[in-house]
Amino acid sequence: MRKILVIGIGPGHPDQITLQAVDAMRAVDVFFIPGKGEEKAELAAIRHAMLARHLPGGRHRTVGFDVPARDASVPYRAGVSAWHDEIGAAYEQLFLEHLEDGETGGFLVWGDPSIYDSTIRILDAVRAHGVVRIDYDVIPGVTSIQQLTAAHRIPLNTIGNAVQVTSGRRLAEQLPAEADSVVVMLDGVTAFASVDPAGLDIFWGAYLGTPDEILIAGPLSEVKDEILRVRAEARERKGWMFDTYLLRKRG
Ligand SMILES: C[S@@+](CC[C@H](N)C(=O)[O-])C[C@H]1O[C@@H](n2cnc3c(N)ncnc32)[C@H](O)[C@@H]1O
Repeated sequence: MRKILVIGIGPGHPDQITLQAVDAMRAVDVFFIPGKGEEKAELAAIRHAMLARHLPGGRHRTVGFDVPARDASVPYRAGVSAWHDEIGAAYEQLFLEHLEDGETGGFLVWGDPSIYDSTIRILDAVRAHGVVRIDYDVIPGVTSIQQLTAAHRIPLNTIGNAVQVTSGRRLAEQLPAEADSVVVMLDGVTAFASVDPAGLDIFWGAYLGTPDEILIAGPLSEVKDEILRVRAEARERKGWMFDTYLLRKRG
């Protein structure tokens, strides 16, 4: 049996990792680090810096791997399903090649592993597939949502009301009606620019928790263009973009 630890490492600041996560990291023999593309390369560098800082002189091994790309020409759900199958096959291969039976492997998952991350789902599928015998545990992390609200010094919810977390793809279809606080992640389409801004405030953050953190807040109608400009400039400068925002209905 091979053991896998799925360790949440927070949204980018090396201090935003829990003591429990550092303890779990100490138990890992092999860390599997995704690394292809400008975004992945920078996130891999942050992961390596965390290992150097929290496991100095550690006897662990690291194995880089390329995450297969999702085929965007296939309808979304079918595309994600095929993509996860491919990643699962890649994990199986990694475990067979680089992790001995009885050893512990580790994934340093961005933010918290339970939100908009499929490592858990994919490991479940690998376990069910049965080619490699694995078991896994999950160690929670600080999410980018928590760094967003902390950096803007705001509560996530308004008193007694619901919060909805959604994706840019879903927001582009419709602004959720139920919740007055809507957190948007994975927004490659700047969906905030296409919703009716009347009565909405936005709290936007990019590269949260890292030295490149950018924050903009205000009525959506007033700051929308500034966010679009700053976001495009930052994306151009760094070659990739990670942003999260909260839309709050006023009143
Ligand atoms: C694959 S999801 C991972 C979310 C992660 N599990 C979490 O707990 O934050 C990637 C999305 O999370 C958000 N995100 C993650 N880290 C971020 C950061 N440091 N700054 C801003 N947004 C971030 C962005 O919306 C990005 O598109």
